[in-house]
Amino acid sequence: MKQSTRINKIPVIFLAAVLFVMLMSGWALGMFTDIEEEPYVSEDADRIVVGVSQLGSESMWRTANTESVQNTFTQQNGYFLIFNNARQKQENQIKAIRSFISQRVDYIVFSPVVETGWETVLQEAKEAGIPVILMDRNVDVKDKSLYVTCVGSDFVKEGEKAGRWLENDLKRSGRQDSEINIVLLKGTEGSSSQIGRTKGFFEVAQTHDNWNILAQEYADFTSAKGREVMESILKKYSQIDVVVSQNDDMTFGALEAISESGRSVGVEGDITVISVDGTHEALSMVADGIINVDIECNPNQGEYVSDVIRMLESGEKVEKQYYVDEDVFTADNVTESVLSERNY
Ligand code: AHR
Repeated sequence: MKQSTRINKIPVIFLAAVLFVMLMSGWALGMFTDIEEEPYVSEDADRIVVGVSQLGSESMWRTANTESVQNTFTQQNGYFLIFNNARQKQENQIKAIRSFISQRVDYIVFSPVVETGWETVLQEAKEAGIPVILMDRNVDVKDKSLYVTCVGSDFVKEGEKAGRWLENDLKRSGRQDSEINIVLLKGTEGSSSQIGRTKGFFEVAQTHDNWNILAQEYADFTSAKGREVMESILKKYSQIDVVVSQNDDMTFGALEAISESGRSVGVEGDITVISVDGTHEALSMVADGIINVDIECNPNQGEYVSDVIRMLESGEKVEKQYYVDEDVFTADNVTESVLSERNY
C-alpha cells in the first residue's frame, strides 16, 4: 500500500512542476498582459499633456476661465495639465511657452495678453511639432499656420451688441436725436478683447452724429483702474450720459467713483451703464437696475478647447476659429434661474 502510494505521487509532482514552468513561461511571453502589465505602465503615459499659459488673474471673468481650464484638463478626463499664470506679462507667457516646448508637451494652449509679438515663440513651437491652440484672445500674425485654432469670443460682435443696445434704448426713450455724451473704459491696451470691443462699438457709434465720445481710456480690465480712471473723467466732465465699460470689474470700480461723485446710474439714474462679461455680481446689479445692460462674454472655454483637442487626436480637421455662445442681459431676462446657474 505504502509503495503504491509513493509511486502514484510521482506523476502528480511531475505534472505540478510542468504546470509551474508553463505558467512562468506564459507570463514571460506576455500571455497574461492585461493583468500583469498594468503595474509596469506609467500612470501618465496615456494622458494628453497640455501646457496652459494663462495671462493673469485681473478679473472675475479670468478666475472663472482658469477654473474652467483646471476643471476640464483633469487626470480623470485623460489629461496631464501644466498650468502657468503670466501675471499680465507677455515675457512670462513667452517663457512659459518655451518651457512647454522643452518639456515636449502634446499641446500648448494660451490666452495671449496682447495680440502682437508672438511670431518667434510660435515658430519655435511649430518647429518642435507642438500644436498651439489660442484660448479667449487672438494673436496678430501674418503666418496663420503658427497656431492651429482659436477658441474664444467674437469681441467685435460684443462691442457691436453694446452699440445696438444703446441705439435701441435711446429710441425707446425718445432721445435718438439728442446729443449723447459717452465715456468708454477700455481694457488692456493691445488685447484682442479691447481692440475688438472698441471696433464693434465704433462701427455703430460712427453712424450717429449725435453720439459724442467724451473720453476713451484704458483701465486694464481691473476694478482699481476702472475706479481711478472714472474718477479723473468725472472731474473733467459734468455731463456724462453713458458709460461703456469693457468688463464688469472696471464697471464695479467706475460705479464706486460715480456714486462718490454724487451722480446716479442705471435704469432710473442720470448715467446709463453698459458693461461686458455677465458675472453673477454684475447680473445681480442688472436685475436691480444699477447696470442697464451686460453683454455676456463666456469664460467657460475649457471644454470647448478639450473638444478641439479630441478632434485633433482623432485626425479630424478643425476650423481656424470657434466662438463660444453668448447672450445679452437686461433686467428683462436676468431671471432667478439665470442667476442661480451662473458659476462666476
Ligand atoms: O479677454 C476677455 C476679457 O478679459 C474679459 O472680458 C475680461 O474680464 C478679462 O479680463
